[in-house]
Amino acid sequence: MSLRVASLFIASFASIAAAGPAFQNFVVQETVRVVPAGFTKVGIAPASQNINLRIALPSRDFAGLEKALFDVSTPSSSNYGNHLSKAEVNAFLAPSDVAIAAVDAWLASHNLIANRSSSVGDWLSVNVAVSKANEMLSAQYENFAHRASGKTYARTLSYSLPSEVADFVVHIHPTTTFNNPRTLRPVISAPKPGIVADATPASCATEITPACLQSLYGIPQTPATETSNSIAYANQADLRSFLKTFRPDISSLTTFTLQTLDGGSNPQQSSEAGIEANLDIQYTIGVATNVPVFFVSVGENFQDGDLGGFLDIVNFLSDEDNVPQVMTTSYGENETDMSKALAFKLCEAYAGFGARGSSILFASGDGSVEGGQPQPCIEYQAAFPAGCPFLTAVGSTHGISPETGSAFSSGGFSNYWGTPDYQADAVAAFLNAQGTTNSGLFNASGRGYPDVSAQGENVQIVSGGSKGGVEGTSCSSPIFASVIGLINDKLIAAGNPPLGFLNPWLYANPGMLNDVTKGSNPGCGAKGFTARAGWDPVTGLGTPNFAKMLAAAGL
Ligand SMILES: *[C@@H]1O[C@H](CO)[C@@H](O)[C@H](O)[C@H]1NC(C)=O
Ligand SMILES: *[C@@H]1O[C@H](CO)[C@@H](O)[C@H](O)[C@H]1NC(C)=O
Ligand SMILES: *[C@@H]1O[C@H](CO)[C@@H](O)[C@H](O)[C@H]1NC(C)=O
Repeated sequence: MSLRVASLFIASFASIAAAGPAFQNFVVQETVRVVPAGFTKVGIAPASQNINLRIALPSRDFAGLEKALFDVSTPSSSNYGNHLSKAEVNAFLAPSDVAIAAVDAWLASHNLIANRSSSVGDWLSVNVAVSKANEMLSAQYENFAHRASGKTYARTLSYSLPSEVADFVVHIHPTTTFNNPRTLRPVISAPKPGIVADATPASCATEITPACLQSLYGIPQTPATETSNSIAYANQADLRSFLKTFRPDISSLTTFTLQTLDGGSNPQQSSEAGIEANLDIQYTIGVATNVPVFFVSVGENFQDGDLGGFLDIVNFLSDEDNVPQVMTTSYGENETDMSKALAFKLCEAYAGFGARGSSILFASGDGSVEGGQPQPCIEYQAAFPAGCPFLTAVGSTHGISPETGSAFSSGGFSNYWGTPDYQADAVAAFLNAQGTTNSGLFNASGRGYPDVSAQGENVQIVSGGSKGGVEGTSCSSPIFASVIGLINDKLIAAGNPPLGFLNPWLYANPGMLNDVTKGSNPGCGAKGFTARAGWDPVTGLGTPNFAKMLAAAGL
């Protein structure tokens, strides 16, 4: 009896010894070689400093979701418009049971039980001290000052995971991503006192108002009718300043839903917040007449570890039973400042919203081809999330005769994602027409962006009672979103599904957009890309022609 127990004991001890101690064999996951410009190392992060680790688990079947997305978004498909349910999408995006068990066991070995960030279960979070994070990830957290915002962020230049979980974690944040938390604010281009004048063709050449857009793009003034239709704005603007400034202007006919995430009511610099919120609200209510608007205000105190609100919004929307039919967001990052694994993970979530019937629009960025890099730069900078192929990136134009691509408008080619099928012919035609211009400065096999464009200069807003012009792709994205919102209203009224993920439809119907063939986005001491007939990485396929888009939507 005692002999048997002893031999059992020895046997089990031997099997543990053969496997080695659990969770001790570290595999390097991601490394940053150079601290991105704009950040300065302050010193080692104190052991007791708190850090909220966000752990991304791999999706169970992203390839399946991608196939389903194109099946419901490609006009020639027999399943076009048969959008997936929340449960169907989340079943593709949820991690496997094996991954969950492995990660939970690793966390349990550190006496941690993770919090689930959403019902999908693919993002976990644990609050730990820096000393613990260093031990768990074989990392060395340091504090880095972000000069532009004056904020300090804990990051590590490298992190590792035990071999037992390395395949079951796609990314941990914050680690190697040095994202810039304040981006794509519209810039005041021409502040002028006074009140908004009525649009005349002459004034539209220098001042863009909702009336100008109605005339230029043929957008009707007739109010939308469908209450199930909605547009969402993901925005970092301060809620209090937003309400104080804009509540008197909200049309009583407009359903306006506010959702604050993550301390969204924390005060921010009201000047910036006011302009951004003004722009978004005035150019929805002013353009997408009577389409219900849903305003997502994300605080500075991001639960998502300074991911600019990307992750909070993704997790929030993935839990909603009904996603908004259109969502427009006016901030972005340099692609190189984002971990590739993190960028892919967020992009998968946008694919999920598209499969559920939501049109996801992002401003393409305001840094031309340069992305604000210190000069001289040797390569054009791509923008995130514009480079994600499962969303619609919107660039800027100005002027009316002819409408011209804006010099600041970001456009180009991703280094992270390859050219998707839906734009392969359009991109090949551009590359062929461009010849050797810009060669060596960009990745010709990448996803090209923007997809479309809209007016983005001298866009008139009212702020604090004064009229002023603003510019930026953050003007163009809400304008394009409003057009889509109005088309969705008519589709829903006719008993049809909303447009959902737009790109396969856009590239299949290039003639429904006003092709912009003038303008360029120079940078890095080079010419940048030039707008041409057909798709180009300055203005995409072009700007909206409402009547033609309605016809292409079968209305
Ligand atoms: C989970 O969330 C709760 C409530 O926010 C928090 O108190 C707790 O520390 C979290 N757990 C971990 C492991 O981070
Ligand atoms: C991109 O990086 C540059 C520095 O190289 C920085 O100045 C700029 O703000 C960044 N742009 C964004 C959108 O984060
Ligand atoms: C260029 O883009 C392709 C396709 O996404 C990618 O595989 C490759 O790594 C990129 N090249 C560079 C130098 O980043």
